[in-house]
Amino acid sequence: MSDTVSGPLTAESIAGAAYIIAALLFILSLAGLSRHEKARTGVIYGISGMAIAFTATIWLTLQGAGATGAALTGLVLLVIAVLVGGAIGLWRARVVEMTGMPELIALLHSFVGLTAVLVGWNGHLQAPALAEDLMAVHHAEVFIGVFIGAVTLTGSIVAFLKLSARMKSSPLMLPGKNAVNLGALAAFAALTAWYVNDSQLWLLVVVTLLALGLGWHLVASIGGGDMPVVVSMLNSYSGWAAAAAGFLLNNDLLIITGALVGSSGAYLSYIMCKAMNRSFISVIAGGFGIAAPAEGDADYGEHREITAQATAELLSNASSVVITPGYGMAVAQAQYPVAELAHKLKERGVEVRFGIHPVAGRLPGHMNVLLAEAKVPYDIVLEMDEINEDLGGTSVVLVIGANDTVNPAAAEDPGSPIAGMPVLRVWEAENVIVFKRSMAAGYAGVQNPLFFRENSQMLFGDAKQQVEDILRAF
Ligand code: TAP
Repeated sequence: MSDTVSGPLTAESIAGAAYIIAALLFILSLAGLSRHEKARTGVIYGISGMAIAFTATIWLTLQGAGATGAALTGLVLLVIAVLVGGAIGLWRARVVEMTGMPELIALLHSFVGLTAVLVGWNGHLQAPALAEDLMAVHHAEVFIGVFIGAVTLTGSIVAFLKLSARMKSSPLMLPGKNAVNLGALAAFAALTAWYVNDSQLWLLVVVTLLALGLGWHLVASIGGGDMPVVVSMLNSYSGWAAAAAGFLLNNDLLIITGALVGSSGAYLSYIMCKAMNRSFISVIAGGFGIAAPAEGDADYGEHREITAQATAELLSNASSVVITPGYGMAVAQAQYPVAELAHKLKERGVEVRFGIHPVAGRLPGHMNVLLAEAKVPYDIVLEMDEINEDLGGTSVVLVIGANDTVNPAAAEDPGSPIAGMPVLRVWEAENVIVFKRSMAAGYAGVQNPLFFRENSQMLFGDAKQQVEDILRAF
């Protein structure tokens, strides 16, 4: 008989091992998703990690319940919940348009927030019997979990309403809005200390209402141009809400996964703030310190129009072409003819590249995904910083359904609501052709002086239709 000190193989230790494998797969998944070439592998790692985590959790729950009637009821409820949730998820994921992804994601974040609130409330109503100091920790977990969850819940609902244009994207400017936010945070700190000492139900009711109001106000106060950061910030909040629920449920994997989502979301928000020259603190604090922008009604003069036929001729004589896509390309689903156009121009010896703004479209990497879908080679898809210097020497820039991301007002008008946001300097090119359906403003609601520049011409109509017309004209 060997004298090893290994303990018995319990259900918890097996599930713990499965959780570690799942957590590693999630980390590998994040690493994969950070590069186009490895994104698919990253998704496979993520799915595998989730499948392992899911199976281990269900198995552990059933082991814990034993062969009792309660275990059977639990199993039946679990299967029903998984089937209903899985069916709804599958249906939504199949029917959602690429342009509807951000609002779907915002809605999913709200579910994470709601879950954290429910788990927190459950933690209060069915508080475990613990030693006094551990009880204080438990109460703090309940209170903080409910607060983060409720902020995430209403914040995500407002983001959903704004992204789906059911609510105006302009910022809500309540008088003393910064004092409201700071006051809510101070009240939360005081109430937490109170609840940890004396866990009364009414305190939990008050913090839930306070956090619901704060979440609503934080996101309502942020203007259209800053919405990309809000989406990634809510992603981060939903991660912290999940981590808080993990502490309460004593589930290590939920804590790890929540922390991964929370920190990667926060880092993404930081990167996007840097890309857009916005103050990170100001944005996460609900537009802290930002004054209401003045509504400009400047007269920029007349715009010029061009036809698809004339655009084809211009492109035939060009030596270099840069395509800067935006949200309109996603709406029109024009990526396939755009990819074909790039291919045709390359065949004719024209140098063709794409210039991608970090917040073009409605979700991080939106344009990259569309172009990859249409099999555009990665080496001709450049980031804004990589292409900006070259735009001055470019014969033709095709602005396909982009607006805010190519707006010179951001660089030239300090009074503009998007002032300071780095943009693609397309107006420096010899010729600029803007594909859109009308003279309407972009997502941030700001008029675009680019359309009235001498070297700009408007090609009105659906972007897909117009690109196909150009291909026909070739
Ligand atoms: P936008 O400023 O949103 O402009 C898109 C343009 O596409 C519109 O001016 C629209 O003009 C045109 N368009 C719409 N449908 C079209 C169609 N079928 N054919 C041709 N044109 C069409 O685009 P952008 O430059 O990509 O900027 C993105 C904006 O969204 C930024 O303000 C950004 O802050 C915000 N935002 C980004 C994100 C992320 S994470 N990327 C998330 C939320 C918000 P017409 O109506 O005249 O056609």
